[in-house]
Amino acid sequence: MKSIYLTGFMGAGKTSIGKALGEKMSLPIYDTDSYIEKNEGCSIKEIFDSRGEEKFRFLEEQTLRELPITNSIIMTGGGIISRQSNIEWMKVKGVMLFLYCDINTIMKRLENDVTRPLVHKKSIEEINMIYSKRLPLYHQAHLTIDISDDTLQEATEKVYQAIKSWQSGQH
Ligand code: S3P
Repeated sequence: MKSIYLTGFMGAGKTSIGKALGEKMSLPIYDTDSYIEKNEGCSIKEIFDSRGEEKFRFLEEQTLRELPITNSIIMTGGGIISRQSNIEWMKVKGVMLFLYCDINTIMKRLENDVTRPLVHKKSIEEINMIYSKRLPLYHQAHLTIDISDDTLQEATEKVYQAIKSWQSGQH
């Protein structure tokens, strides 16, 4: 089975859903951000602060290519879609999912976040602008699943069913 790539904006729930899905499907999970932090020995915020976003994007792209392309769930950072080459990779090598979450829910979740350099100290308008700019990029995914109003359990089930029906359509 091809790997499943979970994409979506910061705060959409990629990590929690990925973990729950991994258990449900008995598949190993990988997280591009955690992989980078482990390899570099520092946090994403530190990489942004000391080496800049471009360096982070370089590491992110490299990570995407190092993670398994079969039988795995890959949780990606919200900005992975900022490089078209990453979108192509996920779509050719695996199943790319967009976990859609509306902007109001996202804003509430990110309100007091200090770990994400792209939202920390940013105005609502600025975050909204990044969100709008990225939407068409996420929409290139094979599957878009709206999980805005769902509990973790509901969202996981929805994502699971979407993957199953996508897989059955592949045969
Ligand atoms: C980013 C999202 C973050 C992390 C980094 C940049 C982005 O991951 O990769 O802070 O550009 O949207 P999450 O989406 O898991 O928060």
